[in-house]
Amino acid sequence: MFRFTLVKKDKKTKARLGFFETLHGKVETPIFMPVGTAGSVKTVTPDELKDVGAQIILGNTYHLHLRPGEDVVNHFGGLHKFIRWDRPILTDSGGFQVFSLAELKNITEEGVTFRSHLDGHKIFLTPEKSIEIQSKLGSDIMMVLDECVPYPCEKEYVKKSIKLTTRWAKRCKEAKKNQWQALFGIVQGGVYEDLRKQSAEEIVEIGFDGYAIGGLSVGEENRLMYDITDFTTDYLPEDRPRYLMGVGTPEDILECVSRGVDMFDCVMPTRNARNGLLFTSYGKLHIKREQWKLSDKPIDENCNCYTCKNFSRGYLRHLFKAGEILALRLNTIHNLHFYISLVKDIRNAIRKECFEEFKKEKLEMFKIGGD
Ligand code: GUN
Ligand code: ZN
Repeated sequence: MFRFTLVKKDKKTKARLGFFETLHGKVETPIFMPVGTAGSVKTVTPDELKDVGAQIILGNTYHLHLRPGEDVVNHFGGLHKFIRWDRPILTDSGGFQVFSLAELKNITEEGVTFRSHLDGHKIFLTPEKSIEIQSKLGSDIMMVLDECVPYPCEKEYVKKSIKLTTRWAKRCKEAKKNQWQALFGIVQGGVYEDLRKQSAEEIVEIGFDGYAIGGLSVGEENRLMYDITDFTTDYLPEDRPRYLMGVGTPEDILECVSRGVDMFDCVMPTRNARNGLLFTSYGKLHIKREQWKLSDKPIDENCNCYTCKNFSRGYLRHLFKAGEILALRLNTIHNLHFYISLVKDIRNAIRKECFEEFKKEKLEMFKIGGD
């Protein structure tokens, strides 16, 4: 059921234009996936997500397993029906969230034991269990359970870790039951090129519908993240989508598309929106600032979102300062629209064979500063 089509390769960079098809429809790449951790993209409705142009969203195995539990979601006919989102959904395996959120984790060959960040009860997550949960959730794309090592991390540890991630990836593939659900492998290896190469080769050897690059944007320098991404995509097959997990800023997306990445997800547009930090074509803007008190301009004059078409910076500043819930919703709509328009413009630039120039121009504009 899952099929990726590579439409065009950029001549000057490693950027690619393509699309993939799932049971719940088609997704054009490069794509940005809004994060819907616990069954909602925070503050917005599915209709609003469609209005900003979202083609696919992300859900989390870890959060949905803890609350409400995959059996509850399954009772409602799966995640799509439960949350009333009829377009594609990708679920992360829980690996990363265990490593970043849970307490007292213990990793063994069999899996990872940890305590819930909600009530402290003990949970044992194995590759088989992660796939079983993701099967019950009914996502279009499932992710394998992996170990995401911190940064920095000793090479000897990372060496052992990628081996474990490979064995877990095999077990995930063997545990998969539903034909229609796609399964993506995850390449780890920290910041070590030889280990990234080894991990990529082992994961590709197993064979997946797509390949993710994990373990990045965990505190390393930007330059290093770009280099590792550039290096890793060379070891991934051309005919499968590549997904850079948890990345990133608008700049990161432009830089990594040009290094051969097709899919991105990040909490940045939604989380920043709730903190009053807005993205514009001229860089970031803090809506709470005094300077916007009497401003009748929209957040971004180049933006066609519902927020920009209807509301002034002055009003949005007031809402935010007054702690009005509407501020968070309007900010989220704008930031998501910004990210989704960015990847749409990227796709058009690749199509028109002017991606490199487009990227350069965008990066220059972001530097001008919206604030
Ligand atoms: N999200 C961001 N980084 C990662 C990663 O390395 N692994 C998984 N599973 N999810 C992620
Ligand atoms: Zn807008």
